[in-house]
Amino acid sequence: MRLNRLALLGASGHGKVVADAALAAGWRSVVFFDDAWPQRQDNRHWPVVGDLAAVIGGAAGFDAALVSIGNCEVRWQKQQALMAAGISLATVIHPRACVSRFATLGVGTVVMAGAVINADAEIGDACIVNTGATVDHDCTLAHGVHISPGANLSGGVRVGACSWIGVGAAVRQGIDIGAGVMVGAGAVVVKPVADGSTVVGSPARDHVI
Ligand SMILES: CC(C)(COP(=O)(O)OP(=O)(O)OC[C@H]1O[C@@H](n2cnc3c(N)ncnc32)[C@H](O)[C@@H]1OP(=O)(O)O)[C@@H](O)C(=O)NCCC(=O)NCCS
Repeated sequence: MRLNRLALLGASGHGKVVADAALAAGWRSVVFFDDAWPQRQDNRHWPVVGDLAAVIGGAAGFDAALVSIGNCEVRWQKQQALMAAGISLATVIHPRACVSRFATLGVGTVVMAGAVINADAEIGDACIVNTGATVDHDCTLAHGVHISPGANLSGGVRVGACSWIGVGAAVRQGIDIGAGVMVGAGAVVVKPVADGSTVVGSPARDHVI
């Protein structure tokens, strides 16, 4: 893939971090798109030139696109729209992340600075392995998963589609985390987590509001 111009859908704070990682990884320039366009005209250092329809139309001229939206469901939904339209999707790895040659990463996935992904980890499409997070050997992440900054997955953990592991959380080895799960900031997960639940604390328990 020619690393000339990368289209980022989602002009957010997370989008800035993705832009930084992409530029560090060798992309020459990035351009933002956001559904809040034309009200939203820039993401501080970068212009916002259109919305999802404009990315699909491809008028702005780019070599590949990536959805830079933090919300897991929305990120996955937008990525599916781009895939259905045949848009070429990038995978971005910050040069100061450490990714095993025996790990696999899906399309539309981004790995931030300081992250570590160990051997035989399988990371799905549209995932975020955020700043300083670790995903140890043999972990499996389905599509749309977000491992927040400083979160640690021990070996052999499985995370279901569009689940979000909060900042600084830790997950014991071999644990199954379902789909659509929210693991709260700083939680310590020592037991399987059912689809759709939110858990917090140490040891992590259901978050009852
Ligand atoms: C778990 C979480 C989703 C709950 O959000 P919420 O339902 O809006 O929770 P609230 O802020 O209303 O707090 C409700 C109660 O839960 C407690 N609580 C909230 N988050 C908690 C956490 N991570 N661990 C322990 N307790 C927590 C609050 O102290 C509060 O307790 P109280 O009722 O006794 O005062 C959220 O706090 C969280 O941890 N999000 C992850 C954020 C993150 O990782 N961001 C990374 C961005 S890259």
